[in-house]
Amino acid sequence: MAILPIYTYAHGVLRKKARPFKGVNDAVARLGHDMMETMHRANGIGLAANQVGVTKRIITVDLTGSEGFDDFSPLIMLNPEVTDEEGSWAIEEGCLSLPELRDEVERPERLRVTYRDLNFDPKVMEVEGMLGRVILHEIDHLNGVLFIDHLNLIKRRLLRGRLNKIKSGDVPVEYEIAPVPASSVTTA
Ligand code: NI
Repeated sequence: MAILPIYTYAHGVLRKKARPFKGVNDAVARLGHDMMETMHRANGIGLAANQVGVTKRIITVDLTGSEGFDDFSPLIMLNPEVTDEEGSWAIEEGCLSLPELRDEVERPERLRVTYRDLNFDPKVMEVEGMLGRVILHEIDHLNGVLFIDHLNLIKRRLLRGRLNKIKSGDVPVEYEIAPVPASSVTTA
């Protein structure tokens, strides 16, 4: 397994829509396990392929250690899709691609999610609370959407300074970040 560099707000790949898998092979399994290891190393609870520079529909989730998730089995989900949703709740989110940013986001509370596992077997899960929250955040990534897109204009304006810092490569984090593309560095 390998640790992959994490792509940030500075990278256009975060705005790309990821493509679904039509099947699996060893490379897909390796990507899933590498993403899981990368996420663990960065102390994340969710990661989407866009965040490691890959535009394929795969996410990893691990809530082990979070309150109420003692028996949690880490998930590698291909082609995850929400087929039903209910309710609404707000909680603070963060993102490994947006270091130091956190804000409250409102999303559905209960979901039915379909996905494929690493054997490409179809799965269905009814989820709620934090697990549903992480899955929704990661599916957003696969669609090129970031949690800050859910904030109102005033809140987004307040984040602009921090976002510009991330764009210029100023991200004081403990995990490996992909080099910032030259086009993203603005000189002002
Ligand atoms: Ni994220």
